[in-house]
Amino acid sequence: MVYRTQFPPEFAFGVSAAAYQTEGAYNQDGKGPSIWDDFCHRNRRRWRGESGATACDFYNRYPQDLALMAQMGIGNFRTSVAWSRVLPEGSGPVNQAGLDYYDRLVDTCLARGITPWLTLYHWDLPLALERKGGWANRAVLPAFERFAEVVARRLGDRVRHWMVLNEPMVFAGAGYFLGFHAPGRRGFGSFLPAAHHATMAMGVGGRVLRACLPAGARIGTTFSQAWVEPYGTDDRHNQAAMRAEVILNRFFLEPVLGLGYPLEHTPVLQKIYKYHLAGDEGLLPFDFDFLGMQLYTREVVRHSFWTPYAKAKIVHPAKRGVPHTVMGWEVYPEALYQMLHRWHAHYGIKRIVVTENGAAFPDQLQAGRVNDPERTAYLQSHLAQLQRAVAAGAPVEGYFVWTFTDNFEWAHRFAPRFGLVYTDYATQERIVKDSGHWYAGFLAGA
Ligand code: FCB
Repeated sequence: MVYRTQFPPEFAFGVSAAAYQTEGAYNQDGKGPSIWDDFCHRNRRRWRGESGATACDFYNRYPQDLALMAQMGIGNFRTSVAWSRVLPEGSGPVNQAGLDYYDRLVDTCLARGITPWLTLYHWDLPLALERKGGWANRAVLPAFERFAEVVARRLGDRVRHWMVLNEPMVFAGAGYFLGFHAPGRRGFGSFLPAAHHATMAMGVGGRVLRACLPAGARIGTTFSQAWVEPYGTDDRHNQAAMRAEVILNRFFLEPVLGLGYPLEHTPVLQKIYKYHLAGDEGLLPFDFDFLGMQLYTREVVRHSFWTPYAKAKIVHPAKRGVPHTVMGWEVYPEALYQMLHRWHAHYGIKRIVVTENGAAFPDQLQAGRVNDPERTAYLQSHLAQLQRAVAAGAPVEGYFVWTFTDNFEWAHRFAPRFGLVYTDYATQERIVKDSGHWYAGFLAGA
């Protein structure tokens, strides 16, 4: 078993969420459309109208949700700011009503004894900017700089914990290379400039936040990470795993750490230099106060002749006969220990926060209750690995469960339920799952 008392008292335990996945209110109070509003609309037939247009209606229900969070003893809440709520055109005039909402949200957190952690960008680019080329157009950088400044100036007196981006690899890879996330673009011609600008945006955002926020602010950014292993001992699988490492773990992280783009195993990514301007080299690294690790699983990788460029393929956990979640992600808690160890021992990262970890299982609401022992077991086993990493010296300062309420899971829409709290989308009723009761007990020291 794992106990709260095995972690330092100041260790930050919390829950994570994101604006588009929870807020709804897609056009309320002057909000402009984002690429996700547009992407859901374009997919409306295939997706049978499912979208984040209403989601959990958190925009209107945050007082009740935060009251429930406080009641469960959850002291830290990470969410994001919807860029197009604040700047409907991406740049240009500020929508005061949108900014006022985040002001109220922050004040309500604080009044409830909940520390707010804000991510500036969790994938919902203003559609107006996408129409000008989105992340593939370098003009996104000054727009992002302005967004960061507007938000920091308004909320910086009360919000101490900031994250610049959420998982650049996922929004650049799924949104601009594979096309199954918004804005649905494909190929290297979109991906490489988007990737370079997203990497640059971390430094841009970090520097603006540092300039605008009072002393004592903690500025970070977050990365998706997966523990990668080759399928068996064949050297071809080993080589494939090294390429997968670059793509899944290293490509966005290493430039920020001052190591440059890792290109030795993936020469095709060299073309990213086409989008470099003189001086970019020096602007990629940024000395963040903490880095956020978002880890869910291990990936076992094999050589695949048929997969273009990467020549690597993930072996599904079902094929390996190992336990997995409804996302098809293996349940492999040791991945968290291994990755924390790598960040600490290999990269020398000084302060780490696990900004997301969690699981989706086929929850059923029965007689007013959700009995989800798999989720509780998932969280317990990951917390045990977290504790093991901390005991071994990894400088981890916090852990956030993804997520508080079930919400809109991007291209998977509402089917995967990741919450500690069940959302009944027909009524917007919230029902604390058994795992939520367990987390509350863990936080209370039970
Ligand atoms: C992460 C995202 C988050 C959520 C979880 C399940 O990659 O940051 O928004 O979708 O996965």
